[in-house]
Amino acid sequence: MKVDGKPTRTIELDADGWGVSVIDQTRLPERYERVVLRDVEDAARAIRTMIVRGAPLIGVTAAYGIALAMRADATDASLARAFDKLVATRPTAVNLRWAATRARDALRDVPPSMRAERAYDLASAMAEEDVDACRRIGEAGARLLREVWERGGTREPLRVLTHCNAGWLATVDWGTALAPLYRLHDDGVPLHVWVDETRPRNQGYLTAWELEKHGVPCTVIADNAGGLLMRRGEVDACIVGSDRTVRNGDVCNKIGTYLKALAAHDCGVPFYVALPSSTLDLATASGDDIPIEERAASEFGDRLPGRVHNPAFDVTPARLVTALVTERGVVHPREESLARAFPELALQ
Ligand code: MRU
Repeated sequence: MKVDGKPTRTIELDADGWGVSVIDQTRLPERYERVVLRDVEDAARAIRTMIVRGAPLIGVTAAYGIALAMRADATDASLARAFDKLVATRPTAVNLRWAATRARDALRDVPPSMRAERAYDLASAMAEEDVDACRRIGEAGARLLREVWERGGTREPLRVLTHCNAGWLATVDWGTALAPLYRLHDDGVPLHVWVDETRPRNQGYLTAWELEKHGVPCTVIADNAGGLLMRRGEVDACIVGSDRTVRNGDVCNKIGTYLKALAAHDCGVPFYVALPSSTLDLATASGDDIPIEERAASEFGDRLPGRVHNPAFDVTPARLVTALVTERGVVHPREESLARAFPELALQ
């Protein structure tokens, strides 16, 4: 996507050819700034403090983190330490463990003298795969949403509600839930996006920033407003991303997603979830088995009278999800359909 007219990715090699340049998302939407990660500590800190965030992007950052570790010290012990450090940063989005495991396993039998180069190549390949997957999600999701728009039978804008930020900032480029919206907009379908604020970290502001930069009309709403809008018939479809989607089709995503899915179900609004296969965890049977990250009380600010419980994600049961939008097309959120679409990931 473009920032101020310049094609931009969330993560890329720095001009020196080895540092890893990322957008500091803690500064957005006020300021667009890039920072350069120079060692595995930097990569782990960037993930933990949410300088980078969003399931696909933290996966690719972890892969680059392994590359940075190999550049400094390519021994087996360093590889094991880098893996442990990176996977300990955030527990819920499975992309992180998936990417770190893939990098570690690919390097195990490579001689130490060649590990750094191989690790950079692998991280860059994962970044390209993510871009390609998101582009395909955009195409499949746009077809689905265009059908919703055409069924409406008017030329009025399609009104879509989204939660959190599942746009290009959360991936390498394009995004997951927002990719179909960019596609539709570029194809000339009129759109209006309701953007949930997404307390406590307000990822909705990132979504609004992205959409505005691309010229997609949007309005930020308080998290609790979506139910009212759906009951009033002001939402034609919901689309969100996912941090982990498991074997039975349950979807884990940013806290508050479940309540939107419940409201959508009650109001007959289709509820779509867009995700690349790096977000699939078919080894886990049900959403109840997903570790939910607890984040710091400080995310609520410093004016609180009492104790804080701050779970960062929730689980939407598969029965509330109309369809999954993946790089292999639209998939029914059920075990058999997921296994058919992604046989290489299904348990044998
Ligand atoms: O805590 P975050 O901001 O990393 O959470 C991000 C989300 O929940 C996104 O919706 C999810 O990662 C899918 S993004 C493509």
